[in-house]
Amino acid sequence: MKDHSGQVVLITGAAGGIGAAVATALHRRGASLVLVDVVSSDLDGVAAALGNDRVAIAYADVTQREQLDAAVATALRTFGRLDVVLANAGISSGATASTIRSAEDGVFERVIGVNLLGVWNTVRAALPHVVESGGYILLTSSTYAYLNGLANAPYAASKAAVEQLGRALRTELAGTDATAGVLYPGWVSTPIADVAFGGDDIATALVARAFPTPLRRPISTDKLARAVVRGIERRAPRIQVPGRWIPFSLLRGIVNPISDAMLGRDADIIRLTTELDGRRK
Ligand SMILES: NC(=O)c1ccc[n+]([C@@H]2O[C@H](COP(=O)([O-])OP(=O)(O)OC[C@H]3O[C@@H](n4cnc5c(N)ncnc54)[C@H](O)[C@@H]3O)[C@@H](O)[C@H]2O)c1
Repeated sequence: MKDHSGQVVLITGAAGGIGAAVATALHRRGASLVLVDVVSSDLDGVAAALGNDRVAIAYADVTQREQLDAAVATALRTFGRLDVVLANAGISSGATASTIRSAEDGVFERVIGVNLLGVWNTVRAALPHVVESGGYILLTSSTYAYLNGLANAPYAASKAAVEQLGRALRTELAGTDATAGVLYPGWVSTPIADVAFGGDDIATALVARAFPTPLRRPISTDKLARAVVRGIERRAPRIQVPGRWIPFSLLRGIVNPISDAMLGRDADIIRLTTELDGRRK
């Protein structure tokens, strides 16, 4: 276990599954934390579980830039520096799945607002300080950055865009001591994944039809957190967990056209997608 003492880490979405698990893993290794989440979340509870030592909390909505500025100011005021940022807060397209045709008005804007603009706001607020400390910014994307986003298009579009931000940021930081990376979780056992695992019967059937069992088995937040800690230690350009997704990412130029064509010809996928279209009010 490497020692992260002296490192100051800011995590958005820290009251939730992945953010809270990474916070716990880093805190155990000595890091000081600034935990960021919305007012309705239980950040106090997360901080209390960590013993309130080396922990500051900042209630902030990532869609509001000035609230991120305030969270970064909390980091500087409390710990005097900022070394690592995990831009992680995110939401799903909803508790029930929809197609682009049947999606309610406003869903796209809401998902892009949190998952993409929220990451942008976090990066922009933190960047001068991370450059100064020669630190690392990790942007939470998803395997949906490169998988077909059928029945989950707003979410997939947001995560593909986050990947682009992260890649560009890493290259743009090459002339500094700081760097950036992209986190690509597969399915992780948190509320966001519920929709595809029983929360919505059509989404569950679609995922079961489109992905073989080993690919769609959700992993624990602890496993994800261990991989994130290792990635932070080596300032990784990409962190893909579970690793079984790496070949799909590497071969996406070949795999994606084939899988898109197969999905578009599969009778069960077409039937389920048509049912989702029928949810249009
Ligand atoms: N769970 C998965 O299967 C999975 C897979 C790939 C990527 N991800 C991504 O991982 C990240 C964390 O998700 P999770 O699985 O831990 O879900 P989660 O719902 O457990 O946690 C998300 C956290 O983000 C917070 N949040 C939501 N909107 C916010 C806002 N506007 N401002 C500040 N905080 C806000 C929530 O309050 C919550 O604490 C998300 O970006 C998600 O898209 C999750």
